[in-house]
Amino acid sequence: MATVAEPEQDFTRLPEMPADVFTAPLKRPAHVGEDWLEPKQTEYDSDDDAIWNDLFARQMEVLPGRAASAFMEGLDKLDLGQGGVPDFGELSEGLGKLTGWSVVPVPMLIPDHVFFWHLANRRFPAGNFIRTRETFDYIQEPDVFHDVFGHVPMLTDPVFADYMQEYGRAGWKAMRYNRLKSLGALYWYTVEFGLIEEQPGDIRAYGAGILSGPTEVVYAVEADSPNRIMLNVDRVMRTDYVISDLQPTYFVIDSFEDLYHQTVERDFDKLYKSLGAGFTYANTAVIDVDYVVNRGTLEYTLRGGRGSGAAPV
Ligand SMILES: [Fe+2]
Repeated sequence: MATVAEPEQDFTRLPEMPADVFTAPLKRPAHVGEDWLEPKQTEYDSDDDAIWNDLFARQMEVLPGRAASAFMEGLDKLDLGQGGVPDFGELSEGLGKLTGWSVVPVPMLIPDHVFFWHLANRRFPAGNFIRTRETFDYIQEPDVFHDVFGHVPMLTDPVFADYMQEYGRAGWKAMRYNRLKSLGALYWYTVEFGLIEEQPGDIRAYGAGILSGPTEVVYAVEADSPNRIMLNVDRVMRTDYVISDLQPTYFVIDSFEDLYHQTVERDFDKLYKSLGAGFTYANTAVIDVDYVVNRGTLEYTLRGGRGSGAAPV
């Protein structure tokens, strides 16, 4: 077990992953190198740009008052509404001046250790492709709209930007402990589906999975069904999650500083040693240590969720 205690300090180059560390068996396309970066961004045609514009317009009908202020400010700072799929080079220039991050094009899925490595170096890997009219409402794989519209505005917030880098720096250690699922739960309940209480009683969404689609924005912020619980990193990393439906439970932060400190001050070695291989808590659970903001009715989930056609109430 000597490898477990090795410090992961050198983030300038990709690590050698020991043979006993699980990595998803992805086949690297011939045209990308070890960093999995596409040589250049896809060239989008006018239909692609029109899809981006329509998705953008649809989100702007539901986001004001429900999206975190930092997200709305990020959209403005990066001028993401200028029309058409943004050029990653221009985007990176603007973002670089604000927080030192860049946006880099990758094929749809990249290996975990490569993903962590890019984050640790303040590079956000974004999918190249954009959905079609046929998959306008729901796609399983994240496309450029999810990745750029959903994730990149938050990278203009200096504290959230630091959190994302720290998340990347935590990744290799989680892999060495075989606790990737637990670290994945933290990403899920913060970066993808996080809520923030900006003022007492004023809950907004900052997670990209919420902000890049029209239904979950309203549901996550306003519906009676889901639980809303204050974030506790230890608890979240023991909590299961669903990937193809609205969440039964959301975790709420009161500031990005709190999220950052809860994460960087965590002794992950100790935490990983204490975790079992599976999750301890179901995604519907409310437990004794929870500071509950709203206890949900769970009506949507109990009716059977998306597959049953239940209303997101
Ligand atoms: Fe995402």
